Amino acid sequence: MKKTVVLAYSGGLDTSVCVKWLAERGWRVIAFMADVGQGDPSAEAVARAKVAGAAKVVIRDLRKEFLVDYCFPALKAHAVYEGKYLLATALSRPLIAKHLVEVAHAMRAKAIAHGCTGKGNDQVRFELTARILDPRLQIIAPVREWSFRSREEEMDYAKRHGIPVPVTKYRPYSIDQNLWGTSIEAGALENPWAEPPADTFRSIRPPGRTAARPAYVTIGLTRGVPTQLNGRAALPIALVQRLNALGAAYGVGRADIIESRVVGIKSREVYEAPAGTILLEAHQDLERMVLDRELLHLKQRLAGTYAELIYGGLWETPMKAALDAFVDVTQRHVTGAVRVKLCKGTCQVVGRRSPHSLYRQRLATYSARDQFDQCAAEGFIKLTGLPYERC
Ligand code: ARG
Repeated sequence: MKKTVVLAYSGGLDTSVCVKWLAERGWRVIAFMADVGQGDPSAEAVARAKVAGAAKVVIRDLRKEFLVDYCFPALKAHAVYEGKYLLATALSRPLIAKHLVEVAHAMRAKAIAHGCTGKGNDQVRFELTARILDPRLQIIAPVREWSFRSREEEMDYAKRHGIPVPVTKYRPYSIDQNLWGTSIEAGALENPWAEPPADTFRSIRPPGRTAARPAYVTIGLTRGVPTQLNGRAALPIALVQRLNALGAAYGVGRADIIESRVVGIKSREVYEAPAGTILLEAHQDLERMVLDRELLHLKQRLAGTYAELIYGGLWETPMKAALDAFVDVTQRHVTGAVRVKLCKGTCQVVGRRSPHSLYRQRLATYSARDQFDQCAAEGFIKLTGLPYERC
């Protein structure tokens, strides 16, 4: 009997060719499609997998799991890579890999496969996750092995084998999209001095073409998790979709970054993450109000570590579980509402409130109602400076 391989299949040219390439090498290929909000898996993509030789296509809707178990923990930790990247692609990889392994087990497969190149981060994320979850599974990366040197050669191969080439308009960019954001790279973006061309704007409206008047939105958070929009309960998918649409309309959530890849090179990337950008602003702001100073500062220091861990594909490690445990304790009081103003590409917090607020107006005020004991400050300063006085 043929050995089975489960391939992470997107429906694009690369993974369609992967199906055929694996089948030609004697594998029984299961094409696995994960829905992380990149748009519905199209009927053509499913049909293309079959034409290319897949024995079966397995589709799983992972959108809720993606937001609740991957994006929201990253949000709570304030994980932003190198100060700019909200990690949409990086967060989806361990989830897809986990399901690849599950499907492989269910199908008694010997191997899993993906369509990543040998110079990106995604291969590292897929493979590290899979190896941690089941080191016995063989991992195949056809794109790293095959000999096509260009997209044209790949298309020729597809045509020779009767695989219909995806009809979507070809754009000279590599694009990865999900509910948490869009990653755009290559093509004209490879020149780090050149401004991103207009066609790199995927969902976000260029700030020059947004409404002149601002929009306001109130985000409700419960223990660090976004649960309400404008005072009304909203479930994760609907909440993120609505904020994506709103932020995009106001030009909010673009980032242009030279980024340090896991494999040692720098690359130029453009990201769009309207909902994530708004939620992060709101979440950070509420924490400033409810966390005591020392905890707030310690948590800020760990945010970078958490981001690096996600970026580097270390999601399934004990370090990640330990950081989550820390973050979850910090979220006990992160409940409240934050008012955000969106205008011409900017996203500003303009108000916040919480039942756990540490802000006390009677202590902060400069008015006659002040209850702060100013005399206590003198002794505080004396003792704080004492270790540093030399005479
Ligand atoms: N550089 C980003 C990351 O490592 C985006 C990768 C995008 N992947 C893609 N297939 N276009 O997460």
